[in-house]
Amino acid sequence: MPRMTARERREAYQREYQFQKKTGKPFFPYAVLHDTITSLVVVALIMGLTILWHSGFGPAPTEAGGERPGGFLGPAYEAQADPGTASYDPRPEWYFFFLFQLLRIFSTPELLLFGTIIVPTMLMVLMLAWPFLDRGPERRVSRRPVSMALAIGTPIVLLALTWSGSQAPAVGGAASGHAGAALFADTGLGCASCHTLKDAGASGTVGPVLDTLNPDYKTALDFITNGKAGTAMQSYKAKGATADQIACVASYVAAWANGGAKAASVDQAKYAAACKAAGADGTTK
Ligand code: HEC
Repeated sequence: MPRMTARERREAYQREYQFQKKTGKPFFPYAVLHDTITSLVVVALIMGLTILWHSGFGPAPTEAGGERPGGFLGPAYEAQADPGTASYDPRPEWYFFFLFQLLRIFSTPELLLFGTIIVPTMLMVLMLAWPFLDRGPERRVSRRPVSMALAIGTPIVLLALTWSGSQAPAVGGAASGHAGAALFADTGLGCASCHTLKDAGASGTVGPVLDTLNPDYKTALDFITNGKAGTAMQSYKAKGATADQIACVASYVAAWANGGAKAASVDQAKYAAACKAAGADGTTK
């Protein structure tokens, strides 16, 4: 079929318009009634869910700030947030995992703007502009390869981002049960705020990654005892850590950095004794 001229298109439109006006249904009352009923159904649904949720409430908590359980629609309310927690793993609701993943991809301070503002804004603008960019009259799916590729590609990319976002390891995840791991973590001597050591769930970036350096016991002991002048690594002896604490955490770093690659080189008896004396026995051997 040859392309219609603008004038022909206008006439065709007018014909269609007149035809619909004669034979179609008027906006009022048909569309209005339709919308009203649909809205009422939605409101009724929400009210029904609310009543169902409320009927599932468990007993009120006995202590202040406690959680009140609910039925399958979720708790009445959760326990009061603890602002002093060091173990909370902040992550968004699942429908924001794709943005969360963008943040993980553009994770350095220089690239942060890409993940938070530039990429999402560009996509949003693209979405608004699309009807103006794609002016092709063709409607058949097989003749619109670019639009189709975008329409299929976009959800795939979003799903992939959502999935990988959901797999993100916990920020400063849980420390293992090895002796000294808790001492290494933020709640202990605070090594985790500067160092990355997977076994301790530590992801600090101020100091070197201990999994990579994997220092032996003597090196670790020296650094922790004396620190290193001119760097952020301070002397823990000067900071008031006990000799047992230092020996325990030095043994721990030597033994368990890099997934335990050098565990055999550590004097296990001394390691166990120091951590026991420091009150930092592990829960696993
Ligand atoms: C305020 C940040 C900070 C804290 C807290 C911190 N460190 Fe460090 N640490 C550093 C820096 C920076 C270096 C690198 C020093 C250098 O330039 O050699 C370092 C170096 C080290 C090294 C030497 C690694 C090697 O093989 O060269 C060890 C081991 C180490 N730290 C263990 C610990 C332990 C264990 C703790 C907790 C008791 C701790 N650090 C606390 C910042 C810190």
